[in-house]
Amino acid sequence: MPETKRNILVTSALPYANGPIHIGHLVEYIQTDIWTRFQKMCGHDCLYICADDAHGTPIMLKAQQEGITPEQLISRVSAEHQKDFSDFHIQFDNYHSTHSEENRFHSTRIYERLKKSGHITTKTVVDLYDPQDQVFLPDRFVKGECPKCNAKDQYGDNCEVCGSTYTPADLINPYSSVSGATPVKKENLHYFFKLNDFKEVLHDWIENNPLQPGITNKLKEWFQEDLRDWDISRDAPYFGFEIPDAPGKYFYVWLDAPVGYMASLQQYCDRTGGDFDAYWNADSQHEVYHFIGKDIAYFHMLFWPAMLHGANYRIPTAVYCHGFLTVDGQKMSKSRGTFVKARTYLDHLNPEYLRYYFAAKLGPDVSDIDLSLDDFQQRVNSDVVGKLVNIASRCSGFIHKYFEGKLTSAFIEGGREVFDHAAQRNEHIKELYESRNYSQAMRSIMKHADEANQIIDAHKPWELAKNETKRDQVHQVCSFGLNMYRLLIGYLKPVTPSLAQKSETFLNTDTCWSDLASGKPLPEGHQINTFKPLITRVEKKSVENMIEDSKQDEAPAPADPINDEITFDDFAKLDFRVAKIVQAEQVEGADKLLKLTLDLGEPTGNVQRTVFAGIKSAYAPQDIEGRLTVVVANLAPRKMRFGTSEGMVLAAGPGGKDIFLLQPDSGATPGMRVK
Ligand code: 2FM
Ligand code: ZN
Repeated sequence: MPETKRNILVTSALPYANGPIHIGHLVEYIQTDIWTRFQKMCGHDCLYICADDAHGTPIMLKAQQEGITPEQLISRVSAEHQKDFSDFHIQFDNYHSTHSEENRFHSTRIYERLKKSGHITTKTVVDLYDPQDQVFLPDRFVKGECPKCNAKDQYGDNCEVCGSTYTPADLINPYSSVSGATPVKKENLHYFFKLNDFKEVLHDWIENNPLQPGITNKLKEWFQEDLRDWDISRDAPYFGFEIPDAPGKYFYVWLDAPVGYMASLQQYCDRTGGDFDAYWNADSQHEVYHFIGKDIAYFHMLFWPAMLHGANYRIPTAVYCHGFLTVDGQKMSKSRGTFVKARTYLDHLNPEYLRYYFAAKLGPDVSDIDLSLDDFQQRVNSDVVGKLVNIASRCSGFIHKYFEGKLTSAFIEGGREVFDHAAQRNEHIKELYESRNYSQAMRSIMKHADEANQIIDAHKPWELAKNETKRDQVHQVCSFGLNMYRLLIGYLKPVTPSLAQKSETFLNTDTCWSDLASGKPLPEGHQINTFKPLITRVEKKSVENMIEDSKQDEAPAPADPINDEITFDDFAKLDFRVAKIVQAEQVEGADKLLKLTLDLGEPTGNVQRTVFAGIKSAYAPQDIEGRLTVVVANLAPRKMRFGTSEGMVLAAGPGGKDIFLLQPDSGATPGMRVK
């Protein structure tokens, strides 16, 4: 009996829009992509939806560091993410952003519904405040000395030097990274979501949710006590959505992040005429699954279903958590080169190697999975290349050489049983995919590949072919091999879609799950195409090069040793003068330079100088015209690409927005010597 068609909505966690996709992220996207491809192959109506998670302080800070707007940052990162995903054959039906009108609409609507039903409350809390710029400071806007190792200029939440975590109040000599002022404590109004209102609903939902071992204990812990109110507001400056009726207050990024699932579906439905409500209405019969890492279970198994229920939407059918990725048994490490970006991997290796390897490792539970680099190479080469694709490459030549590329449906001795057995296992393999037990599914597929190879080895078509009277047997054994290949590459199609597609072209057939389940070999006389190499072996050198490149990706800034010593007499030769910037102009074609016209004032006889200064990322011309600065006045003119520079203005800072033109104290006049 044909299965009823299911309507399934599937999501993976939304990646933050401030950094690249790396192989740790890919565990989840590959896991989800395999699942959604499998559902589609079974003929279900399955949508795979995702988006960039674009709000919050780290994204705002990153944009500031780069001297660009958050919008510029998130649009660049989104393009990079989407390219990485697509090159890994992660096939979303829609990819959007949480910084979108659809998300503003749905976040606001959920918030307003929660507020109307009394699930939002306000409380006064004590926050750090910048008395100079008059803004509340999130943890990451307060800097100071690490209380543990005394490293300077550390953020208010953790130390990048020694790794310790703390609160901004623990910092030594804290200062606001906005103005440099010392922060003070100040009372502030925050908005809270009353999570405990939903304790029972959540408890029931979790009871009825087929839970994964490993998550159960965490949940029990959470439910032992009342669930605390959740702080959902953050103060300006914040990159996010302003809370309706609360000027200057923004939704905390984790409020609108999961709503991004809805926003992306909304965009999909607007684009295709799909029925959004059918997925999210309180009485929806459609299925909704979230695939996430175990670290964000709290958000997806408490806050998110509570928000949905409180706003009169349905609750997800299930949330599936996976564990973390280790490489060679250890946490991914930048210095060891095991923190591999998706792009760096793609520069060296075929994405389907990793898809297969992760599938071979992934089970339904939350255990961490290990990418052992030697095992990766060995496993992919032995299973995919050595066992599976080898069947096709060793059989196809004979079919073309002696039988004009046509198969026979007659079976070689022993072949029918092996084929039938493998075909009957389709139900079992299907269940393994459905329950995300991919490692067992891979094992089962490879077991049948072994059996196929044993039959071929037993009959030795290369020997039979030497004897003209045995051509029928050659035909039968090779047709058996190719029928087995078609079946097994069909089973593997959700994992290695590109290899499967190339194989279908070669076999001249399309395959969906019901074809595999039919148990029928390809018909008598089925014509196949010429065999072209389908996949190459994983080379050790490529893996090594990928690791080397990853080390380079993260290499610390090169040391910048102090120049050779100069004598005091050398130094005394420098003539520092106060100069007035009378004109500042953009330089066409220059990324960093502004062209400054400087007046060196009366004492110098009103000498005017043209100086090119690399300060464009920090200053707009109109901001510095009329300002005084310090210039090395006796530097020999230097020919540059855009003209001759007749001096040097002095500035300091790491770059980007943080370039500080040295300014003389007030009371200085142009031409004055600076000593
Ligand atoms: O942990 C993270 O990477 C988050 N950006 C995941 C968000 S998932 C969803 F809630 F948006
Ligand atoms: Zn420290």
